[in-house]
Amino acid sequence: MSRLILSGIVCCLVLRTAYAIPACAQDDEDCRESHMHPDLLSERDRLTSQSRIAGEETTEYWLDQGKQFVKEKLHTPANQNIAKNIIMFLGDGMGITTHSAARTLLGGEEKSLYFETFPHTGLSRTFNVDKIVPDSASTATAYLCGVKAIGGTIGVSGHVDRTDCVGSANVTYHVNSIAKWAVDAGKSAGVVTTTRITHASPAGVYAHVAERDWENDSEVKGDCGTDTVVQDIAYQLIHGEVGSKLSVILGGGKREFIDSKLYAAGKRSDGRNLIEEYKQQSSRNAYVETLDELNSLNVTEVDRLLGLFQDNHLLYHLETNEQSNQPTLAELTRKSIEFLSRNDKGYFIFIEGGRIDHGHHDTYARLALDETLEFAKAIQLARELTNETDTLIVVTADHSHAMTYSGYADRGNDIFGSTTYTGKDGQPFMTLSYANGPSYETFFDVQQHARHDPTTLITGAIYDSFPSTIPLDSETHGGDDVAVFASGPWAHLFSGVYNQNTIPHMMAYASCVGSGLKACSTAN
Ligand SMILES: *[C@@H]1O[C@H](CO)[C@@H](O)[C@H](O)[C@H]1NC(C)=O
Ligand SMILES: *[C@@H]1O[C@H](CO)[C@@H](O)[C@H](O)[C@H]1NC(C)=O
Ligand SMILES: *[C@@H]1O[C@H](CO)[C@@H](O)[C@H](O)[C@H]1NC(C)=O
Ligand SMILES: *[C@@H]1O[C@H](CO)[C@@H](O)[C@H](O)[C@H]1NC(C)=O
Ligand SMILES: [Zn+2]
Repeated sequence: MSRLILSGIVCCLVLRTAYAIPACAQDDEDCRESHMHPDLLSERDRLTSQSRIAGEETTEYWLDQGKQFVKEKLHTPANQNIAKNIIMFLGDGMGITTHSAARTLLGGEEKSLYFETFPHTGLSRTFNVDKIVPDSASTATAYLCGVKAIGGTIGVSGHVDRTDCVGSANVTYHVNSIAKWAVDAGKSAGVVTTTRITHASPAGVYAHVAERDWENDSEVKGDCGTDTVVQDIAYQLIHGEVGSKLSVILGGGKREFIDSKLYAAGKRSDGRNLIEEYKQQSSRNAYVETLDELNSLNVTEVDRLLGLFQDNHLLYHLETNEQSNQPTLAELTRKSIEFLSRNDKGYFIFIEGGRIDHGHHDTYARLALDETLEFAKAIQLARELTNETDTLIVVTADHSHAMTYSGYADRGNDIFGSTTYTGKDGQPFMTLSYANGPSYETFFDVQQHARHDPTTLITGAIYDSFPSTIPLDSETHGGDDVAVFASGPWAHLFSGVYNQNTIPHMMAYASCVGSGLKACSTAN
């Protein structure tokens, strides 16, 4: 007995030394301070009432907020209607740190992006068949087609390796997106993005390729030879089984559709102009290239709408002005919903804020967070234009990024500013930084083997780089789960922690499309 007690004491003494757990009486402030890291101490002392929100110092404020939240929950009955319409919003690379940080741009940490107020949320696990941290191609296959796949592949199962030309063309391995399930059920379907329309995420709606870079025929020929039967992504959009049935197609990437001999920016080498071919398919196929053209379009006079607003990706929202004549994501969303709502059977639409990801890859945190706000505006508009009783809106991301949101800046501090104290090298560090990326050399003096003061390098420009710890040409994606936000019929299904590929199965259940389980079937 005494030996047991003794070994117990020894164990705890060892632990205590190893982790330096402070032993202070509950109300002994002096003792606490003696254990506190000096930097944290000065941060605490710096905190003034000005950096806080009036009311938050009271007990009542938080008790009331808690009560209101419980009340809201009690008044959110499960919506078990059939979803006539499904709107899927995809924030490319919009990890949880991204939308959490973007809140502060609305005026403070306590604010919420519109979609963060949706009644039901869950977490999506994003790994793919061959990688822990996925890319946008395999994840599109997961959240649109319901199947996890190999990185870099789109609309094909895990049998097909990246750049496998033979596997790519074999229909046995093709997997279809929920856009096809919706069209087969008599609904309309559409795809909208701020990237090239042939980019990985939007391509998940309509394409089957073993390589996401096969956006034009030149790329395919490079990998598969000139006599290949593999069709490039732009070709599949205009002539493919799903692409040719999409009612709304809006984004960038005009260059992938036209031969370089016919159009200077063109990337094709097969002599084709796929935009002309689309127009020739029907006199009621409309084509637009500017915001003005989009606005003046009379939707009752056309059956299908193709809009390509840039040769490459759309400009970042912060890069545009009136001369750009480029629609915002919200403007694209408005027109699409107006257009698709004409079908009494409903619609499925995929709407991507695609450049959040690009901002992060370049460590341009300002651009990434601003694109996140634009994304949120489009979602708010979509919810206002539709009815929660019959339209399910699902908001998620394909994967996260290696951006961290670290401590401990004061309340009210600029999210793009530095934290309150310095590193052990005496230099300040930023609230936002990246685990890796191209900005390493900007912030690290390799010769001196020392960090520069980052606050002198971040000037407020839209192309401000934020520090990265490991030198890489492009900052990487992150493997942490991404959030899913749902509003409308069967939104409650989206709670929990689940694999990304289950998302379309839940959307299909809610709207009674596809060959899986359905809310309207008694055979569940
Ligand atoms: C497609 O794949 C299936 C299954 O492996 C195989 O039986 C078939 O021969 C393939 N078709 C072609 C055209 O390669
Ligand atoms: C399309 O083709 C051209 C060659 O004409 C190539 O340089 C370009 O990078 C291609 N791929 C994409 C994804 O645009
Ligand atoms: C749109 O076209 C329809 C049919 O041609 C016409 O009746 C309607 O007035 C037009 N609307 C606008 C705003 O021009
Ligand atoms: C939504 O639809 C329901 C049921 O049809 C209807 O009662 C309600 O007024 C609609 N709400 C709006 C904002 O249109
Ligand atoms: Zn990316």
